[in-house]
This record gives sequence, structure tokens and C-alpha cells, in this order.
Amino acid sequence: MTTTTTELAAPSGFDAKQVPLYYSRKTADILYKYGPGPRTHFHVGMFGSGEHPQTTVAQRVLKQRIRDSQETVLAHAAKLWGVVGAPPLTMLDIGCGLGGGSLYWAQEHGARVTALTVTGEHIPVINDFVRQAGAQNQVTAVQGDVHALAEEGIYDAAVAIESSGYMDRERMFSVVARALRPGGWFGLQEHFLCRPEWAGFIDGYYKTRLGGLTEYIAAARAAGFELEADEDITDRVAEFWVQSMAWTTAELDALDQGHGSPIGRRRLVESALTHGKFFRVWRDHALETRLLIFRLGEGKRG
Ligand SMILES: C[S@@+](CC[C@H](N)C(=O)[O-])C[C@H]1O[C@@H](n2cnc3c(N)ncnc32)[C@H](O)[C@@H]1O
Repeated sequence: MTTTTTELAAPSGFDAKQVPLYYSRKTADILYKYGPGPRTHFHVGMFGSGEHPQTTVAQRVLKQRIRDSQETVLAHAAKLWGVVGAPPLTMLDIGCGLGGGSLYWAQEHGARVTALTVTGEHIPVINDFVRQAGAQNQVTAVQGDVHALAEEGIYDAAVAIESSGYMDRERMFSVVARALRPGGWFGLQEHFLCRPEWAGFIDGYYKTRLGGLTEYIAAARAAGFELEADEDITDRVAEFWVQSMAWTTAELDALDQGHGSPIGRRRLVESALTHGKFFRVWRDHALETRLLIFRLGEGKRG
């Protein structure tokens, strides 16, 4: 049994309390909507170009489709980032959520993954999923704040799937550059603000501090990274919000018919309204979801 819980001892650089509290409270809802695992993801999923699957279908179909779309975006990233042809032996999954991505990189691509999250409550959940998947030798769950990461030259690759929005980008790129081996790469899936007036609404909902693409590229360069690929997947993930809204509406219908829901009516209504707004924000490109890959330049390390 190699799965461990480790507290990284260093000062937190970026809102140390709010984010873990937010995620601890959300755990049960995430498991209910996106579970049951072992590979449970909490990020947007991707659909085919121009693909708009029917939403007037059974709720279990919507749930499976949402989960499939989350795995689709990881598979797409794996191709874009060259994982398929040259799988990294060691990976750091930064802001790993419930470890769905960490298990994906381990099970589909044979990586040994350190799953890092600042949310302590998620560690036993990840450990349980890792055990269920029989991946104890491949995935190690670690509690810690990435801003305090002190490892040096030990990972072939790092990924941050919709987690960098919680982080100080300069610090993040700098610690990741130091943690990677020379020539190592850093892949990100993230939302980037194009119309800053939406920042308050989105950051308020997710407790993030989203930024713009230029800010990321500047911070990455300062840490010695070079941008290798930047794919705008906004149009292919916008559909995720429609499917998610449909799932939530079905949950509200079930409540009206006397079935319980652990999520609760108020939260479901808020989610349906917000995801409706998100769909319009994504469709209008007021915000863009992108897959980026950065590589450490020759001989450079942060
Ligand atoms: C939107 S979730 C993404 C989860 C996961 N990457 C996935 O795709 O399912 C954001 C994650 O980032 C983590 N996180 C936020 N700030 C962090 C920090 N400073 N250090 C480490 N993890 C952090 C949260 O605990 C949460 O697990």
C-alpha cells in the first residue's frame, strides 16, 4: 500500500483556507453527480464539433454522457501533449480533485502519479478509489498546497486540469519548473477570461481567480517554459453545460415527484441557472477553455 497522506510544510501563497473549505463541502455533491468512481472527475467535458446530443432522455444517460465527455477531453489532451507516443514515467497531477485524472494517467498511460490536492478531506476518498482500481503502486495521494511545492527534478510531466485558476501563476510555474526533469512538460486545461466583466460571477461561483492567456504565457516564460501547443476547445466544451443543466433539471423533476436528492432544491436551482449562464458565456467566447502544453527550455529549470 503506497498511498500516503503528506502535509507539505511551507507557507501557502494563495488563499489557504477558502478553497479546501469550499471543496470539502462539495465532496458529497461531486460524488453524487459525477461518481461513483473510481475515476471521478470535476471538470468540463468535451463533445464532437457540432455534436449536440439529445437532452430529453433518461437522467442516467445524461450522467454517463457527462462522465464520458470528461474522459474524452483527457484522451484529447493525451494526444495533444504527446502522452500517447511518449508516456511520462512520473507525473504530478496538480489540484487532482477526487483523483479521476490521476487514475486516468496511471491506468491508460502507465504513469506513476503523485496526486496533489490542498483539500485534506479528499485524500481518503482518493485512497479508496485508488484501492478499488488496484492502482496502489501507481497513484500516491498527497495533501499540500502547490505554492509550497519544494521537490526538485523528479517528474517527467505535470498536469493541472482546471486547478490553475486557484493558483498564483508566477509561483505555480516557478515551482513546477523546479519539480520537473530537464525537458519536462506541463499540460494545463483551463478557462481564460476574454471579457473581464465576467470574472466576478465565475470566480464568485467557483472561488477561483481566473486570468488571461497572456498572463499565463508570461509567467511560464519567466520560469523557463516554452509554449508548445495551445488549443481552443471552447466550442467543444460549451455543450457540457447544456448536458449538465439537463441532468440538474431532471434531478429537480425527481424532487417534485417526491424522490429525495442529497444536493437540495436551492443548490440545484442555483446550479441550473448558473450553468445556463455559463453556456451563454462559453458560446459567446466571453471566456475560453484551452489546452496548453509548456516545455522546459534546453538546460533551463526554475
Ligand atoms: C476544479 S477541481 C479540479 C479537479 C481535478 N483536476 C479534476 O479534473 O477532476 C480543482 C482542484 O484544485 C485543488 N486546489 C486548489 N488550490 C490548490 C492549491 N493551492 N494546491 C493544490 N491543490 C489545489 C482543489 O483542492 C481541487 O481538487
